[in-house]
Amino acid sequence: MREQWSSKTGFVLAAAGSAVGLGNLWKFPYTVGMNGGGAYVALYLLFVLLIGMPLMLAAITFGRKTQLSVFGAYKSISRRWAFVGALAVICGFFILAFYSTVGGWVLYYLQAALRGQLNTIDPAHLEAVFSQLLASPIQLICYQFIFLLITLVIVLGGIRKGIEKASKLMMPALFLLLIIIAVRSLTLEGSMEGIRFLFTPDFSKITPDLAMYAMGQVFFSLSIGMGVMITYGSYLDKKVNLVQSAVMIPLLDTAVALIAALATIPAVFSFGFEAGEGPGMMFITLPAVFASMPFGQVFVILFFVLVLFAALTSSISMLEVAISYFVDEKKFQRKSSAILISIAIFIMGIPASLSLVAKNQLFSIGSLSIFDLYDKLTSNILLTTGAFLLSIFIGWVLKPENAIQEIEASGIHFRLAKVWSALIKYIVPVGVLIILIQSYQEFISALLR
Ligand code: PFF
Repeated sequence: MREQWSSKTGFVLAAAGSAVGLGNLWKFPYTVGMNGGGAYVALYLLFVLLIGMPLMLAAITFGRKTQLSVFGAYKSISRRWAFVGALAVICGFFILAFYSTVGGWVLYYLQAALRGQLNTIDPAHLEAVFSQLLASPIQLICYQFIFLLITLVIVLGGIRKGIEKASKLMMPALFLLLIIIAVRSLTLEGSMEGIRFLFTPDFSKITPDLAMYAMGQVFFSLSIGMGVMITYGSYLDKKVNLVQSAVMIPLLDTAVALIAALATIPAVFSFGFEAGEGPGMMFITLPAVFASMPFGQVFVILFFVLVLFAALTSSISMLEVAISYFVDEKKFQRKSSAILISIAIFIMGIPASLSLVAKNQLFSIGSLSIFDLYDKLTSNILLTTGAFLLSIFIGWVLKPENAIQEIEASGIHFRLAKVWSALIKYIVPVGVLIILIQSYQEFISALLR
């Protein structure tokens, strides 16, 4: 008998825990900044609704139906499709390899906050803190190691105890704190320019590249395309209303991403940081917001604790995908596979961290640093491919009728069944395929540049 979630909220919180992470807090705001604001945000929202939600339902339904983790789930329906499961496992390795780099930054910032080093609104000082970190290979690697170690320790503590208990407390706390920061950020002088930047889309800015980045970010943020939601769905009880979960999780995830952007972007304009700052944006901008509010010193510590937690509930989910593959398929012991996988990811992660040290030539391929390479390879290639294949598989191999039967097994009537079937059979695969072709072209030419 498989272990099951002790309650529906347990699943929703854990799945939302996987979805909400550095993708929302760190990546969304800075990619909004780099991609010119409103048009990117608008496309993002459109893709969440038309592509993210239908795929979320497909994934958790598929998982619950088969009661297997990703590789076994595909294999149980068709042996020829087992490779999609393998792709998912590989993708998990690559995401964690650079996710742990950023997780390490969070740890570094947590200790800097504890030592009171972030208490300033001076852009030059805050930029220097970030550059100093990037200039220190030993620190980068040590903090990355600690982040992976914490992930490993939690995973070895067991699914329910580790993930479920903690999410119940930390997720609402994070939500609340983000709202407080957003309010402060929005009341800063000159913050209106940030609002305009975020919410007045200039549709002439929409290009194939922009659509590619927005879609990749949707998959990354929702944890879709590498089997996390299939695996988590497999632990679900038949009574749970899957439709409700498939709407709630993306809504929550998108709300967090938007609030994170509202907390960051207006402050970027108000303090005079660069909108196109890149991966350092959250780390450079938010300390300035904290420094300009009462009890900022306390809040900044709390903030990095909660960001760390959000990152961990996501990294746990990625590690879980790989572990369940080796345990279910290769009959490895859980403990030893968890340790071996973590070591492999750490080794893969070192060049990702080092590639950012003074734009090290040694750790780049073509025009991409290893960090960017892992990022693009996962969001734009592997996750997008995984999402495409998931839609084809559910739409044409498993068939929507069978999925709908599983959805209705909880005793509900799925009113949007027809709409969902059409989306998953036609709209999603065609939409994702168009982007996917663009992504492959773009990725290969970046490697050759
Ligand atoms: N969704 C996570 C985030 O936004 O930080 C990252 C992630 C987790 C991506 C799990 C993919 C995944 F399978």
